[in-house]
Amino acid sequence: MAQSKMQNIAKEFPVKTGVDRKDRRELAKMLTKIIGSSHVLYAKTRGVHWNVVGPAFYSLHKMTEEQYEDLNEAIDEMAERIRAIGFQAPTGLSEMMNHSVIADQTKLLPANDMVKELVEDHDKLSRLLRDGVAEADDADDVKTADLLTERLGVHEEAAWMLRATIS
Ligand SMILES: [Fe+2]
Repeated sequence: MAQSKMQNIAKEFPVKTGVDRKDRRELAKMLTKIIGSSHVLYAKTRGVHWNVVGPAFYSLHKMTEEQYEDLNEAIDEMAERIRAIGFQAPTGLSEMMNHSVIADQTKLLPANDMVKELVEDHDKLSRLLRDGVAEADDADDVKTADLLTERLGVHEEAAWMLRATIS
């Protein structure tokens, strides 16, 4: 009984698509960091979506909705990439937070300050993604490099749009 339950827990798959196991393992760790960071950013983006006030209310409310919806999809895609390269995807909010390079938001700030913080967070995530692309390239994992390159562009654009609303 206990044995068959154990068999239903996600475990490492023997993936043989031309990327070394050691490299795939490192990439799974990198993806976990990016997913954790994206989760924290998702929650902070929703915080702005709900609480923003002032003349930019409508544009920021709409913009942040697009951004958190994009983050939601990206988190799913990146977690599924971890499974495709053979490893376990993260589970639970504390695991997300433990792997995040982005600090959680614990209190409400004036709208401009929260938006400024989002800009810094997108920049931080862009830097992490740039490292991830380099790592995936070095390992010849072109698919992961491609996915992370796309994410890098999205975060650079999000930072620009948020920055433009407060400058
Ligand atoms: Fe909403």
